[in-house]
Amino acid sequence: MRDAAAYRDLINRSLEPRLRSLGAIPERLLEAMLYSLTAGGKRLRPVLLLAACEAAGGSCETALPYACALEMIHTYSLIHDDLPGMDNDDLRRGRPTNHKVFGEGVAILAGDGLLNAAMEIVLRESVRSGNMNGVRAAEVLARHAGVTGMIGGQTVDVTMEGSAPTEELVTYIHSHKTSDLLQAPMEMGMILAGCGPDQVEKGRCYGYHLGIAFQIVDDILDVTGNPELMGKNTGMDENKMTWVALRGVEQARRDAEDHIRQAVKALQGLPWDTSFFESIARENLSRAY
Ligand code: IPE
Ligand code: IPE
Ligand code: MG
Ligand code: MG
Ligand code: MG
Repeated sequence: MRDAAAYRDLINRSLEPRLRSLGAIPERLLEAMLYSLTAGGKRLRPVLLLAACEAAGGSCETALPYACALEMIHTYSLIHDDLPGMDNDDLRRGRPTNHKVFGEGVAILAGDGLLNAAMEIVLRESVRSGNMNGVRAAEVLARHAGVTGMIGGQTVDVTMEGSAPTEELVTYIHSHKTSDLLQAPMEMGMILAGCGPDQVEKGRCYGYHLGIAFQIVDDILDVTGNPELMGKNTGMDENKMTWVALRGVEQARRDAEDHIRQAVKALQGLPWDTSFFESIARENLSRAY
């Protein structure tokens, strides 16, 4: 296994060529997609995918197209999340948001384009390799990104704006808008490595708790964070159903710690070194961006 920085480098070097490999893309659309895709970002999801595959005995080369596809879907979700009809944000990854630069029409299409490119990439790779595990990983990606996953969570987040938070609804929102895209890399990486369902379930459970903790910390940072470090504005969640609105900052922090403990516990029994994933989980609690 490599360290997180090495996985991140590999992803940063692969995203643009992988997108261009699809063929001739209208210039303005390509520019808009690359604007958000290459703006940085922590690359947490694709790093987890590459690491999960390698830790479980698979190869980074096999996992790389799937990792790029997942980051494309995550980036599309951010472009759409920032639109005026959703969170109406003007700063993302340290830059003006996509629609501020390219206009709403092109920003919507850049998001659509990244989503479809992602599915094209994983399906093309699965057809090329003829490996059924690739098809399984593509299905997992489509499901977690889809209407019972991230899109479902985003819908409840947007439609419940302004309502008083309940534990049930905030848990639904966090489970789906965020946690689904953190379960996906663990499951996909492990499936690509050839793991069976019991092991994949441990990975999924880690991703679930990491994802909930990740969104709780994101909600906390909206109140306590530094926009310069985060590359996005703070104080945007005033009308949102956040964990902080439900419990306050102090209790939210304890709840995030509890989910990190559960994430680490979920890895017990996996027959390989899980320290990489424990570190990633613990680092989430002290992140400033
Ligand atoms: C932001 O995700 C959206 C949430 C789910 C909170 P990240 O915090 O991973 O954003 P990037 O990819 O580093 O920009
Ligand atoms: C966004 O959640 C989740 C997705 C994009 C799927 P937030 O709206 O809290 O993310 P930020 O704070 O804008 O990054
Ligand atoms: Mg949002
Ligand atoms: Mg937002
Ligand atoms: Mg947020």
